[in-house]
Amino acid sequence: MADVTELVRYWNAMSREDTFIAKAGERATVKLQAASLRKKRAEQAEGLRFTVIALEGGRIVGHTSLCRARIHHRSMHRGEFGIGVEKGYRGEGIGTAMMRELEKKAKQWGLRLFVIGLFAENRTARKMYEKFGFKECGRIPGGLSRKGKYSDEVMMFKRLGRGRSA
Ligand SMILES: CC(C)(COP(=O)(O)OP(=O)(O)OC[C@H]1O[C@@H](n2cnc3c(N)ncnc32)[C@H](O)[C@@H]1OP(=O)(O)O)[C@@H](O)C(=O)NCCC(=O)NCCS
Repeated sequence: MADVTELVRYWNAMSREDTFIAKAGERATVKLQAASLRKKRAEQAEGLRFTVIALEGGRIVGHTSLCRARIHHRSMHRGEFGIGVEKGYRGEGIGTAMMRELEKKAKQWGLRLFVIGLFAENRTARKMYEKFGFKECGRIPGGLSRKGKYSDEVMMFKRLGRGRSA
């Protein structure tokens, strides 16, 4: 089981790298991380969040978190997630293993759709999602920014259930 100081190390490494995840530049601290963990645990207990941490020994090398889209009850059938693997551990199947866990949980929850938005230049993530059956369904021009540049946000989805609309 990883402790909060290891979580802080992991998030600071990901944040410093300024890769294609939401965290970039901000510094994690034990206090902030502990508060975030409490909030996430409460969401997990409510069945609104599912988190997977990839560990090598006691070192955190990857994370993913699935949330039911909660903007309002009409999108509760939709799952959105974030995923990342620490530099130096990519390309070894960790992302794939975590995606499999997400998919299992999404099916258990009865979700009908997976939705993800990604940087247009993030070819590795796109390949991984395509491998899992995601399809592009549109782009938001200049929808994301990184390192002082705007990029298109590619929207991808995957149907998880059967039915007319999803
Ligand atoms: C995207 C990411 C999570 C994938 O995790 P990973 O552990 O490297 O993925 P895997 O090793 O399981 O590879 C999954 C698939 O991605 C693709 N892939 C992996 N490395 C690749 C590379 N260097 N170039 C192109 N495609 C690649 C392949 O399709 C691969 O499947 P395959 O090995 O069966 O062909 C990881 O690269 C990462 O953390 N990137 C930075 C953060 C990020 O982009 N997060 C996603 C935001 S939407």
